[in-house]
Amino acid sequence: MSPDRIATGAVAAGQIWKRYRADSSRPPLRQAISRLVRRRGPQSRWVLRDVNLHVEPGESVGLVGLNGSGKSTLLKIVAGVTFPTAGRLDVGGRVGALLEVRAGIHPELSGRENTYFYGTVLGLSRRQVASKFDEIVAFGELGDAIDRQVKYYSSGMQMRLGFSISAFLEPDILLVDEALAVGDVGFQQRCLERMQTVVNQGTTLIFVSHDMAAVESMCERTLWLDDGVVCGDGPTPEVLTAYRVGLEEKAALLAKMLQGPVRLRDLVITGRGSPSPTTGEPLELRLALEADGPVSVELCIGVSEGPANPIFALTRDIQLQRGSNDVRVTVDNVPLPRGRYYVWTGAFAPGLGAKMPWHPSAPLDIAGPVRQAPPRGVMLLSPVHVTAGWEVVRAPGHVHDSLPLGGPASRA
Ligand SMILES: Nc1ncnc2c1ncn2[C@@H]1O[C@H](COP(=O)(O)OP(=O)(O)OP(=O)(O)O)[C@@H](O)[C@H]1O
Ligand SMILES: [Mg+2]
Repeated sequence: MSPDRIATGAVAAGQIWKRYRADSSRPPLRQAISRLVRRRGPQSRWVLRDVNLHVEPGESVGLVGLNGSGKSTLLKIVAGVTFPTAGRLDVGGRVGALLEVRAGIHPELSGRENTYFYGTVLGLSRRQVASKFDEIVAFGELGDAIDRQVKYYSSGMQMRLGFSISAFLEPDILLVDEALAVGDVGFQQRCLERMQTVVNQGTTLIFVSHDMAAVESMCERTLWLDDGVVCGDGPTPEVLTAYRVGLEEKAALLAKMLQGPVRLRDLVITGRGSPSPTTGEPLELRLALEADGPVSVELCIGVSEGPANPIFALTRDIQLQRGSNDVRVTVDNVPLPRGRYYVWTGAFAPGLGAKMPWHPSAPLDIAGPVRQAPPRGVMLLSPVHVTAGWEVVRAPGHVHDSLPLGGPASRA
């Protein structure tokens, strides 16, 4: 597609390859260290391999993947900050980019000067920037700091400035790379709301984040990069589930190599009365633990959806004997909506650290109602299933509407 035919707000990146060369300059310190290490790294490496990214105007697309998988590189290519080694790229309209916390922000300039400079780069007139300036300062809560040099800003303040500038200068395409991580909780929420507002106004959004809840709350579609290759591209819940499962399987594989004085030999999970665990019904976990000697531990079992921090955890002090120990745990009613989760386990001795490190131990598939999705821009910390009765109370004289407990309004 030629640049004059692409619609404003669209991105068409086809068969993008990117190779980074190993740096050729060898400062004295590196020369000395290379002699010490006696090992030379590869001369170059491919960090993006045959990546296709087609985004329609007004779409919001998440970009996920492990560290070093090529997300920032792809975003920099779309922003025109770096060129692909091979491939075709057409970008329609003005791009506002918060690439990395400090990228695009000049430390020697003040916040005010940076705002006008960035506006000029975007092709806006001085008057157009001036009309947005107060909003930018207010949103970033920068106050008097707007006239200080940016090199004296904290990382959070730099991010606030960068985000406010890129999100308020009305780009056709907004690129946001891992910006929220350095913001405080209140600002994160306002960033999500602002991104949602610009998307509602028709701006295209490409959002890179390791925070899956944030991606889920912002993006209808997600692209998963693994080692420079597109591993998944589709509706966010499906791609994130596949990504999480991949992460957990990797972590579980690593955990198999763990050796400690207490080991989990087996973990069997069943629904009580039915073979598959179901929302609101009982669940039973049977653990076979092996200990090198008698030990008193705090056994912890958690259920997670990807990361190591569980949705809920069950802990108990128990005395393990040398050899094998069977532990049975029952949960009266499973508080999780339908989905794929992971059971993590760990055994800890007070003051002595982990006897068995905290690790993913077995997948857990829950049958039952689907989770309720909050409105876009509202981030769900973790999924729990709550049945609720709803009643709409009208002005006096009107009949009340009510819905039965667990009725359609309480389920998605
Ligand atoms: N300027 C550069 N020169 C050489 N290699 C680079 C350069 N920038 C990035 N890389 C390499 O390219 C690969 C992809 O990096 P990139 O920053 O795109 O990853 P990422 O997915 O954004 O990771 P993270 O989640 O850690 O931000 C990495 O192996 C990185 O070392
Ligand atoms: Mg990155």
